[in-house]
Amino acid sequence: MDIGQWLRGLGLQSYEQAFRDNGIDFDVLPRLTADDLKEIGVLPVGHRRKILDAIGEVAQRASADHSSTEMPHQAERRQLTVMFCDLVGSTALSARLDPEDLQEILRAYRSQVKDVVRRHGGYIAKYMGDGALVYFGYPQAHEDDAERAVRAGLELAKRIGKLNTAVGEPLNARIGIATGLVVVGDLISSGESQERGIAGETPNLAARLQERAEAGAVVLSDATRRLLGDLFELTKLTPSVLKGFPEPVQAWRALGEGHAESRFAALHGTRLTPLIGRGEELELVLSRWRQAKEGGGQVALISGEPGIGKSRLVLALRERLQDEPKAIVSYACSPHHVHSALFPFIAQLERSLAFSPTHSREARHSRLESLLQETVPEPSDAVVALFAELLGIPTGTQEAIAAMSPQQKKGLLFCTFVAQLEGLAAQGALLIVLEDAHWLDPTSRELFDQIVDRLQRLPVLLVVTFRPELSPPWIGFPHVTLLTLNRLAKAQARSLVERITGGKALPSEVLEQILARTEGVPLFTEELTKTVLESGFLGDAGDRYVLAGPLPPLAIPVTLHDSLMARLDRLAPVKEVAQIGACIGREFDHELLAGVVSLTEAELQAALDRLVAAELVFRRGVAPATTYMFKHAMVRDAAYESLLRKRRQDLHARIASAIEIRFPRIIEAQPELVARHFSEAGLKEKAIGYWLQAGRLAAARSANVEAIAHLRAGLASITDFPGTSRSQWELSLQLALGGPLLATKGFASSEVETAYRRAQYLSRELGRDTDLFTALRGLGYVHHVRGDLRQSMREFPEAIDLARRIGEPALLVQAYHFAGV
Ligand SMILES: Nc1ncnc2c1ncn2[C@@H]1O[C@H](COP(=O)(O)OP(=O)(O)OP(=O)(O)O)[C@@H](O)[C@H]1O
Ligand SMILES: [Mg+2]
Repeated sequence: MDIGQWLRGLGLQSYEQAFRDNGIDFDVLPRLTADDLKEIGVLPVGHRRKILDAIGEVAQRASADHSSTEMPHQAERRQLTVMFCDLVGSTALSARLDPEDLQEILRAYRSQVKDVVRRHGGYIAKYMGDGALVYFGYPQAHEDDAERAVRAGLELAKRIGKLNTAVGEPLNARIGIATGLVVVGDLISSGESQERGIAGETPNLAARLQERAEAGAVVLSDATRRLLGDLFELTKLTPSVLKGFPEPVQAWRALGEGHAESRFAALHGTRLTPLIGRGEELELVLSRWRQAKEGGGQVALISGEPGIGKSRLVLALRERLQDEPKAIVSYACSPHHVHSALFPFIAQLERSLAFSPTHSREARHSRLESLLQETVPEPSDAVVALFAELLGIPTGTQEAIAAMSPQQKKGLLFCTFVAQLEGLAAQGALLIVLEDAHWLDPTSRELFDQIVDRLQRLPVLLVVTFRPELSPPWIGFPHVTLLTLNRLAKAQARSLVERITGGKALPSEVLEQILARTEGVPLFTEELTKTVLESGFLGDAGDRYVLAGPLPPLAIPVTLHDSLMARLDRLAPVKEVAQIGACIGREFDHELLAGVVSLTEAELQAALDRLVAAELVFRRGVAPATTYMFKHAMVRDAAYESLLRKRRQDLHARIASAIEIRFPRIIEAQPELVARHFSEAGLKEKAIGYWLQAGRLAAARSANVEAIAHLRAGLASITDFPGTSRSQWELSLQLALGGPLLATKGFASSEVETAYRRAQYLSRELGRDTDLFTALRGLGYVHHVRGDLRQSMREFPEAIDLARRIGEPALLVQAYHFAGV
């Protein structure tokens, strides 16, 4: 299709020439803004809106096509939600049915599976007879994969139950869902049988849960349940022993949708910490509220990245206005209903009507009628019928709207919705909340365009939250204010951690790691702190936590896995460049990256441009000295951890060699960098020399803590070295450790003594007099400061003998000095 054809499809062919004159084709289309359209002469707001909505659909379609066909080249480690679906009693069916009828049933069943899974963004890995294995989170992760899986499971169970079959009795599906870390990729990659297999316990668990599910039931693993908050109504099943699992397994049955008012309430509602910071932002919105109450309606747009605290701010606003007389109407968009016309309006109505499954059709209808009567003066039959149609309540009043065109129906619906809000505003101040407008469907957007225009003369504050992927709507109207939420300051993030730990202090190195990795994004801070508390490496010492052992690297919280991976997967073709960058580190240098990737300079540049445009990384400096930095440490970690261990090692080896060959200045200034890459590559012999060099360099700069860390890293790499070579390296490392330990731990510390003792032993073993002298001198300091003169007396004659043997007068002076003190 060309652009002219596309415009004709929208009934806007008059702009074809303008589009062509300005060089707008399908490549540019997704990036067009309302301002661009204005500039090229699309002046009526309605036309601009129509074009932007249609662009949104093109982009959505492109990304859906893309995600279904784009397969990662390499196997990856990922968190996946796996669904197993099976037909109940199919063996019995096959005995009773003619094979042709059976085939017909299977065909219908598979087509349902395919349709439901596709619509929820899943991926059918394979069919096994009447079973289907489905992945959610591959090849494209979504922040809500677990939710998608459950939604798909519930819908599938319902649909299979309704399938028309030749047998005359209903069919039933059994569904098991589990979430966990797996390796996914072409495990069996020979020709035709190529299949995206996964390795890990998760698929097995999903299969076992499916086996124990009752007919028509959807059963979830505990790990899946933890990702769902209160989004669904669940019942806890009794733990059961499953084949292949040592402990009884806790599982849950999903019954249906939950009843929370919003996603925020469902996902964070039960465990809220008090608001931290955001005082200015809250004041700004409150001042708009005061203006609105005077009759000058206002719109406050709150934009910010996921988890930054938009919904929390809205909640704080509602709390602050708790005692004021007002009405509140809240609309919430959903990632699963981006294309369902008027979804937020329908959902809001359904919440106010609070239907229960026991309500009859008549009861529903009369509730709807009385709701409409409360808000619209004398609703006509047509209005009631339209709303009944919108809510899917079949009634006998349909003839009232039978003759109306779709356009007329829409016009009347819009008028009624607007009139409802105007009716409320006529009674007093009104707060309207629209959450997650980046998922607003095009029809609702059109309706909100009208509402925004209309509320200027009403006592209404409309608060809209959205992520930066939506360029701020309605900007330019005098009554619209845009507020962008930034990350919390370090001190605020620290208080957030404190509130989650219930005021108990964390060991400082743990706290620092949490703050460094989460960088003031409240959601990250909350989730990582909770993960740390649950991880079991902290002991509870009453008013504080203590480390029960050495601090392991902090894992990415399972609750964040999907959303972090989703950000990377959106950039599927260039994701590999991000992964290689992540291997280099949070910051990576263009030149070094170029030395590691197998791409031409132009290809690499294009890939980096995409990463920058998607705000995954920031660019600094001018070519060729450009460096890049991941916007979030967590995204870097997710990119890194998605690589298979083997591939990570290869990449580290390539990076280390590239540094050795091309960047002597890095080796001179930061030998620890190349040491780390060699260590991660498993090339310990190469790593060790650089660790030693890094330790000595840091010690020479009095960076003693760093020196100790480098030298200890060196010691950790020699454990499996053969005899003499191990002793030689260890001797050098222990001796180098002595000075920085003396400086930081004090002369009398046992760590200093251990280092020098070990050096004394090793230098004797290797017959190294000068090193032995250094070790003895070190021990001399320790004994002296501890006042352990007897031990000193025992060691100094050996030091004097040694100095004589070495024939170095300076050493002799030192030996006598140390004997004299
Ligand atoms: N200022 C704050 N003080 C205390 N907790 C906060 C603050 N900001 C955010 N949080 C907490 O961080 C988590 C994420 O915040 P929230 O859900 O409001 O983010 P969001 O911007 O609405 O994200 P999304 O785009 O995913 O909807 C929530 O649990 C919230 O309670
Ligand atoms: Mg939110």
